[in-house]
Amino acid sequence: MNKNSSERTLSIIKPDAVERELETKIKKIFLDNKLNIVDSKKIQISKEEAEEFYKTHQTKPFYEKLCSYLSSGPIIAIILDGENAIQKNRDLMGATDPKKAKDGTIRKLYGISIDKNSVHGSDSLENAKAEIAFFFN
Ligand code: CDP
Ligand code: MG
Repeated sequence: MNKNSSERTLSIIKPDAVERELETKIKKIFLDNKLNIVDSKKIQISKEEAEEFYKTHQTKPFYEKLCSYLSSGPIIAIILDGENAIQKNRDLMGATDPKKAKDGTIRKLYGISIDKNSVHGSDSLENAKAEIAFFFN
């Protein structure tokens, strides 16, 4: 096992999951899969901050709703660290649409709908760095 292949990613427990008190259950899935929790904080962001966070989706039809949603209640931002953490977290999350997510994934277990899908995860090394800096600076 090469230590250098350890990387960091950002997870967010979204408002629907915070509201249903799923923090401990979701964090257990990370820990059980060798993703260490480096830092974690519960916060509520403004609509403007959500727009900044999701700016890569600016042109998408769901952008407005997405930003309203992410700022609608408390969220938990988490830095995960581990071997292949970015892809591993994406695999643990499952498909964007909970209906299409594989059994055992977080979104299959807890997601309500494509917008209320319980978790966010960075999708690349570049985005992971930027997203961690966004919440933990
Ligand atoms: O979160 P993920 O990377 O799986 O999906 P995305 O394509 O980066 O979209 C970001 C978020 O926008 C999703 O997690 C959904 O909450 C939301 N979304 C939506 O509300 N409607 C869609 N048709 C697609 C995405
Ligand atoms: Mg994404």
